[in-house]
Amino acid sequence: MKVFTSKLLGFLVFFFFYHCQAFPHYKFVVKEVPYTRLCNTKNILTVNGQFPGPALYVNKGDTIVVDVYNRGKYNITIHWHGVLQPRYPWSDGPEYITQCAIQPGAKFRQKIIFTTEEGTLWWHAHSTWLRATVHGALIIYPKMGTSYPFPKPDAEIPIILGDWWKEDIMELYQILERDGDAIQHNSEAFLINGQPGDLYPCSKPETFRLKVNRGLTYLLRIVNSILVDSLFFSVANHTVTVVGSDGSYLKPFKRSFIFIPAGQTVDVLLEANQSPNHYYMAASVYSTGGIGVFNNSTTTAIIEYNGNYTPSSRPVLPYLPSHSDTAAGLNFTASLRSLADKEHPVDVPMEINTHFLYKKIFCADGKTRTLASVNNISFLNPSIDILQAYYCCIQGVYGTNFPDFPLFVFDFTTEVYPMDWEIPNVGTEVKMLDYNSTVELVFQGTNLLKGSDHPMHLHGYLFYVVGLGMGNFDKDKDPLMYNLLDPPLQNTIHIPKKGWVAIRFKAKNPGVWYMHCHFDKHMVWGMDTVFIVKDGESPEAKMLPPPPDMPPC
Ligand code: C2O
Ligand code: CU
Repeated sequence: MKVFTSKLLGFLVFFFFYHCQAFPHYKFVVKEVPYTRLCNTKNILTVNGQFPGPALYVNKGDTIVVDVYNRGKYNITIHWHGVLQPRYPWSDGPEYITQCAIQPGAKFRQKIIFTTEEGTLWWHAHSTWLRATVHGALIIYPKMGTSYPFPKPDAEIPIILGDWWKEDIMELYQILERDGDAIQHNSEAFLINGQPGDLYPCSKPETFRLKVNRGLTYLLRIVNSILVDSLFFSVANHTVTVVGSDGSYLKPFKRSFIFIPAGQTVDVLLEANQSPNHYYMAASVYSTGGIGVFNNSTTTAIIEYNGNYTPSSRPVLPYLPSHSDTAAGLNFTASLRSLADKEHPVDVPMEINTHFLYKKIFCADGKTRTLASVNNISFLNPSIDILQAYYCCIQGVYGTNFPDFPLFVFDFTTEVYPMDWEIPNVGTEVKMLDYNSTVELVFQGTNLLKGSDHPMHLHGYLFYVVGLGMGNFDKDKDPLMYNLLDPPLQNTIHIPKKGWVAIRFKAKNPGVWYMHCHFDKHMVWGMDTVFIVKDGESPEAKMLPPPPDMPPC
């Protein structure tokens, strides 16, 4: 009997590994479900009926398979934000860039290949504006048998910062695409783990609560999934220790608040070391110098110490910088430093053979709609995805003339300029890169159309943030101040209005990789472009072939 059981077990294990290629499988069913927030009920698109969507837990270096079933009524794609997907852009997800959409009723099997990422990343829809409700955390634990570069926390809690819109998301998207920003739209509330918190109407009972034991340490894995806003976040009476961002560790530093641009993740340690009580954690918006119409509300969750005591009648609110505090955000970003030790070496490209200066203009074409651009080109979505066109040598889908430098150089911070500077060219232009080329890219924020800050995100890569500052980038002076010793490794970086950020990376991941502003409004208006990194010579330097079930266009 025993022998039989173990044989059967052996067979089952074989069966499992053989048929599932040994990769853990997950099922994502995209469907509409009614949710009630702020006294109103509406249908929202979810994964598996959950909002925020399910968190996936992996170890560093794992590969997983996710079957995405589209049971909703809109085309959709799913992206694994910050996962490098080496040589395998086929599962990366951005619509029109690496795949055509999964149509209603269809299914797509995506393979997510983790390599060097460790910490917190996230997944989200990457077509139209559907990521508003279709997103969740990716938690990447250290490899089995290894541990964190800090004392192991007693518990880990994903904190998903989101937003809630009164309007139907697809209706909003269509207005934005058609009219630009003719009418200013703002979200109705910000959310912590799907809940606005008790400062908003009809929200008190469901407020997210985190019960803590005095003396223990909690790892908060914070994700900013918000469509068009960067946030300040803090916990009343507690300082947090920042230990990671974008799936990489950082030299720990303590702060009373953090700044988290749209698309980024920040990992912090929270020590429950205050007198037992109820404390708010809270987040509110940073809004480019506080101009324009923005959502100035505050989302809260409650930290509740366990034990026998009478809490104050209202939890204590934390200090948050003012909505226009640009310096607070910049100072936080400038504090990020890689560990740069034996186990976490830095490998900043020193010899740079490709330079770009990206002037990020925010432009209108005539009177009818708003456009945004990079190097004066407003990106136009192609009719079929660029990856397929590249791989199958289909002509006429994209051009390869994305300029390395702005077509004309001026004082990017100027308040006064001729109207026609605001009018970009429109096109589908990509930048070709040779395998292993070392790239330096300078993002220059401008003041056109009153300007804005921009969280820029690159797919398929992590990049070193080697420098940042306000004003016009000075190509002679600013590089002398670069941090080449322990720059942070990010996939998303905040570019201040009228400021600049310099990044470096080595083009060692062949494929088609999207780069865009993570304010979806700006992305819709064309603040994006694509890098095509060519294959290298050796077989390990070539893109892998596509899976059999790529969604048809
Ligand atoms: Cu978080 Cu292109 O995306
Ligand atoms: Cu932007």
